Amino acid sequence: MPEMQKFIICGGNKLKGEVEIRGAKNAAFPVLCASLLTKEPCIIENLPLVEDVFKMLKIIERMGAEISWLGKRKIKIKCAKIDPLKIPYELVGFLRGSILLLGPLLSRFGKLEIPPPGGCMIGARPIDSHLDAFSQLSVEIKKVPSKISKKSSSRAIPISEVYCFRKTKNKSQKFHTASFLKEKDKKAREVVLREFSVTSTENVLLFSALQPQKTVIKIADFDYQVQELVSVLRKMGVSIEEKEGHTLEVRGARNLKGFNHKLISDPIETGTFIIASLITEGEVLLKEAQLSFLDLFLKRLYDFGAKFKILDEHTIKVFPSKHLKIDKIQSLPYPGIHTDLQPELGVLATQTEGPTLIHDPLFEGRLRYLDQLNKMGADIIFCGPHRAVVYGPTVLTGIEIPSPDLRAGAALILAGLIARGKTIINNIYQIDRGYERIEQRLQKLGADIKRITL
Ligand code: EPU
Repeated sequence: MPEMQKFIICGGNKLKGEVEIRGAKNAAFPVLCASLLTKEPCIIENLPLVEDVFKMLKIIERMGAEISWLGKRKIKIKCAKIDPLKIPYELVGFLRGSILLLGPLLSRFGKLEIPPPGGCMIGARPIDSHLDAFSQLSVEIKKVPSKISKKSSSRAIPISEVYCFRKTKNKSQKFHTASFLKEKDKKAREVVLREFSVTSTENVLLFSALQPQKTVIKIADFDYQVQELVSVLRKMGVSIEEKEGHTLEVRGARNLKGFNHKLISDPIETGTFIIASLITEGEVLLKEAQLSFLDLFLKRLYDFGAKFKILDEHTIKVFPSKHLKIDKIQSLPYPGIHTDLQPELGVLATQTEGPTLIHDPLFEGRLRYLDQLNKMGADIIFCGPHRAVVYGPTVLTGIEIPSPDLRAGAALILAGLIARGKTIINNIYQIDRGYERIEQRLQKLGADIKRITL
């Protein structure tokens, strides 16, 4: 089990200085999983040193991959001799990104047994869209009791059921779109995703990459993680065309090349530090930032009255901004405002003038952090699991709170930075899953935040 640690924050300091943004955690998973598609070595740079990435590396290593560190954030990974029977079930249960083992391993080995992934409990339909997509690809899916769980009482997360996937030759597709029926290429296959889902899009891409026939993916998500994976798969020899209407056409190959890739910086971490600067009325220069996936986020901050200057594609300076006024924050699939930035914006709303409607139609668990903000003195009324109204400005007071999930945890740190007195955040393993030593970077900017080991 991870060590029990907490953050203690004394609020009130304005942030000032420079911060460097790290690699994107959610882009690291599909890129690491792309290395499972080839026997050749792959080099990945700019890996964020966060818990979920370490766990993913451990999973891949336990399957037999050879991994060597070439630098602080640079690895060489060779998956010539991997055995999917060696997947460590207990680690899969720790992170949602582990669902991305499915596409490449199933494509390479024809069958796979894997437990459901873990990660943030922010939604009710964890992998429905993946199961639906693979059933459209003629994959047979069964859920069976796990044989392993009986022998593994010491495991941190008990595994009672596993999914068994098997590729079949069955060509009959139950549903075709009208445009697909016009296709001359009879060997092509079509997958219509049941919702915009980042990881389902990635899983189908990873699966299709080793299949020489054409696969058409409709309702594909185009967020940063997907675009990273597309560029890596192209380097490996996969042909991927982007078509109108959120469609990707993929033509894979039986043998793929290794790749050399520098991960993009994290747009979510970029947004988190921008809000940290705004909320403390600080002045922070963000370097190595990822701004290209934040168009709407930045446009809306500008509308709210935030002062910042974009210096180039990867550099932004945020200035002290008073009297911000937000009307509505709505998270939507890309290019909408990321649901992963909604909690940070929710904390900002407690400091702005008048009411702010928060609407997160994506995940029903994503507003739970607002309960904690109310305990700190915020004035928030819930209108259901997806909507709430935040009345500002309010004075927040430090209390002891758990970190319910990764992004909520980051949001509560921001709340602590402006709260009166001491805020104690427990269960910070959730935050370490996705932010690399966030407290050290905040300390460098002048925040009073300490990590305490119990
Ligand atoms: N769901 C969860 N927990 C999650 C994500 C999803 O329970 O962490 C459930 C929800 O019920 C949702 C369903 O799964 O309705 C399907 O969600 P979707 O497939 O859209 O999510 P995802 O693609 O698996 C990725 C990110 C999430 C991010 C969403 C939306 C990765 C590994 N995860 O999830 O990131 O919120 O897209 O942009 O890329 C995070 O980093 O904190 C995070 C949750």
